[in-house]
Amino acid sequence: MRLLKTVEGLRCWLGKQSGSIGLVPTMGALHEGHLSLIRRARRDNDLVVVSIFVNPLQFGPNEDLDAYPRTLEADAVLCESVGVDCIFVPTASDLYGADFNDTNTLFAVVPPPALTYHLCGKFRPGHFDGVATVVTKLISLVRPQRSYFGQKDGQQLAIIRRLVQDLNLPGAVIGCPIVREADGLALSSRNKYLSGQERQQAVILYRGLRSAEETFKAGVRSQHYLARIVFQYLETAPAVTPQYVELVHPHSLAPLEKVETVGMLAVAAFVGTTRLIDNVVLRSRQPIIAIDGPAGAGKSTVARQLAHQLGLLYLDTGAMYRAFTWYVLAQGCDPKDEIAVADLLPKCDIKLVAVPNADGIPQPPDVWVNDTSVTQAIRTSEVTAQVSAIAAQGAVRQALVKQQMQYGLAGGVVADGRDIGTHVFPDAELKIFLTASVEERARRRQRDLANRNQPVPELTELAQVISERDYKDSTRKISPLRQADDAIEVITDSLTVDGVLGKLMMLYNENVITEE
Ligand code: PAF
Repeated sequence: MRLLKTVEGLRCWLGKQSGSIGLVPTMGALHEGHLSLIRRARRDNDLVVVSIFVNPLQFGPNEDLDAYPRTLEADAVLCESVGVDCIFVPTASDLYGADFNDTNTLFAVVPPPALTYHLCGKFRPGHFDGVATVVTKLISLVRPQRSYFGQKDGQQLAIIRRLVQDLNLPGAVIGCPIVREADGLALSSRNKYLSGQERQQAVILYRGLRSAEETFKAGVRSQHYLARIVFQYLETAPAVTPQYVELVHPHSLAPLEKVETVGMLAVAAFVGTTRLIDNVVLRSRQPIIAIDGPAGAGKSTVARQLAHQLGLLYLDTGAMYRAFTWYVLAQGCDPKDEIAVADLLPKCDIKLVAVPNADGIPQPPDVWVNDTSVTQAIRTSEVTAQVSAIAAQGAVRQALVKQQMQYGLAGGVVADGRDIGTHVFPDAELKIFLTASVEERARRRQRDLANRNQPVPELTELAQVISERDYKDSTRKISPLRQADDAIEVITDSLTVDGVLGKLMMLYNENVITEE
């Protein structure tokens, strides 16, 4: 692991590296919350860079800049233990220039007022200018594929998402769930300031949010009631002075009167003299899980079983393309006649109906076209022979993606395909890129053919076919196969179906269910 103290040193080191980079910006005093970001970055990227910089620009005149804990030695040990490649620890004058205290000469990045008018922005003027400025600098220097921020600073995360999007900064912004102590207190470097008694009372922020969340689950949507619950909890702790409890949209940060689809209930309070924040994201729809990956990686088997385990609908997009292909053939239409095929789209109403799991074995959904059940008919060799060509037609793709998005409005689906996380459900709560080496997929295909008593080609021959299919899928114009930047890659080479499922359940619990 390298410890680099200058911008020049960092540039020089980066120049010699190749592969994807995950950046985890921090102010040090690392705890399990930071480590969860670093572990995710480690999993997603070839290289992990952690910056440690107590950024003076984001502290107000009466805030804790001087007292902020600085624990570089311990931080370095922790970083080493989780496989960080480089820690970047610049000084303020190296990063900003010698005049960094002089706001007349400093070039700053200022987020739009709509994002800073509420929540912490209202009480910490200039704070998010400092955050946006340093994050712009760090991302511009490191040019990561992905950068990682915690959901605990929910307003910061929303601002950084917009910053990266609006200023075309490189890489994806990955938000990671809040990590909590056993009693629920959100981890924060500032928890170090709390006395024993304050520490005991600090948990009331979480308890209030938890109670509001329970009330939300029971059907209460209004900001007024949800915020009042949190305030009532805060009032029970003498060391706690509330600053705000607000309900906003977690991305636009617009204040909400009530939760329509999703809301972030956020709280800030002083515990003694220490200012703590916390939040909970309330969703009125069930999550969406997007599983993409190359042919033969086991997506549909895994997606179906995962949907079954979680009680969600398996949105079998492959079955939808098959259903439309069946309809095209049943109408006697030439599949190559793109205009005639497109004309059939509005006449073909496809429905997927979840089958009750009486025997506990996950079933594929029942597929209906208009009033005909086609669950069996879509599996014939005639349909199989035509489905790829029809699914590659622009108008077909567009119409079926629209239908898939309709299913997503209500949430509660697991969908698999090639462009689910990148195109169909870019806001999915969990995105998985399920893949396996070409050799492994060739071996699986051999086993599959042997089980079905079909002729089994040589491994090299199958591997060649699979490689060509991968190339075609990832270079085609319409809906190419691509891993979403915020998707988690799962390589299934050495895993059984149960092993893959176990891993996906773990990722679901870590990334979607943030509160048990
Ligand atoms: O969340 C933090 O620790 C800081 O605000 C950040 C993002 C590292 C910028 O200084």
